[in-house]
Amino acid sequence: MNKKIYPYITGTGSFTPPKILTNFDLEKIVETSNEWIISRSGIKERRIVEDGTVSSDMAFEASKIALKEAGLEPGQIDLIVVGTVTPDYLLPSTACILQDKLKIKNTAVMDVVAACSGFIYGLSVASAFIISGQFKSVLVIGVETLSKITNWSDRNTCVLFGDGAGAAVVQATTEEKGILGTFLSGDGSLANLLHIPVGGTKVPLTKENVDLKQQYIQMAGSEVFKSAVRAMEDAAIHVIQKAGLSPEEIDLVVPHQANIRIIEALAKRLKLPMEKVYVNIDRFGNTSSASVPIALDEARKKGLIQEGSRTVLVAFGGGFTWGSALIKW
Ligand code: ACO
Repeated sequence: MNKKIYPYITGTGSFTPPKILTNFDLEKIVETSNEWIISRSGIKERRIVEDGTVSSDMAFEASKIALKEAGLEPGQIDLIVVGTVTPDYLLPSTACILQDKLKIKNTAVMDVVAACSGFIYGLSVASAFIISGQFKSVLVIGVETLSKITNWSDRNTCVLFGDGAGAAVVQATTEEKGILGTFLSGDGSLANLLHIPVGGTKVPLTKENVDLKQQYIQMAGSEVFKSAVRAMEDAAIHVIQKAGLSPEEIDLVVPHQANIRIIEALAKRLKLPMEKVYVNIDRFGNTSSASVPIALDEARKKGLIQEGSRTVLVAFGGGFTWGSALIKW
């Protein structure tokens, strides 16, 4: 009888641009204050790309680290999945550009558009292909150059976002460990609460709508906030219960870093102390699909994830989309 196959993360990597934009820098751009930003979001600073750096560049840097840690050559990857809402181009996918930067051919390549849940959606795609036996090694990336779709005169949004990339190599194993379960969901009826109104085929870019800065992210912050807390709790509970576990049996939760108050509310609802919840929003802000893999990579490299321990990844984003993954290391 064939042995059951499990998808296991064998390497992670992350990259954030060196340029730091502090809250004090933002005080000079819009009417805001360091105190307001910290108290309402927990963010102290974020990383911003220099002109000329694009999503595929950051994805490439994060991927190289993850591949090296996994001990794989790029050519051993069967599928590249890139979660992003800030692709280099509308066509082709950023996964294709990354494939070329990795100097490989004959690999399956795709982008996943699920905003802040993009990495978890990508991880779920990787898991499903590995469990099905179609692929053995998948490279999953979450990458965003949000600074390019941010309206730097809108204080409601520009204080929140940052740029960066995180990557994970997922490989097939017959040992009972790895990504034990994933949960994905969405609600397109709430799309208008967090969106970019123009620039697609419905409302193409015009001089008029660009003058009105409608090509940038618009967000109804407090409505998104409430949905995010509820959906992230549901997603985390779903994947934990499906594995026959309870929240206190989870060693570390790595949540999407959108707002420290959302993260604290999630911890409270799961009845978990904040020591079991990884936080780096103070240094990077909200990097959308990159936030979970950057946080995961940091947590691993700080030694917060031991062999045999259990981690839950959970995210919520524009769409709305949300999802979770339970990993046994
Ligand atoms: N500086 C100072 N004042 C500000 C700023 C700012 N940067 N931004 C807004 N304000 C003001 C508002 O104008 C408002 O003033 P008013 O009462 O006079 O109208 C007041 O502060 C309060 O605004 P709220 O929006 O009610 O503030 P809130 O406590 O909700 O915090 C925030 C705003 C930080 C945006 C929060 O709602 C949030 O984090 N929302 C969720 C974001 C999220 O999870 N996004 C999901 C993923 S993002 C993605 O998918 C790309």
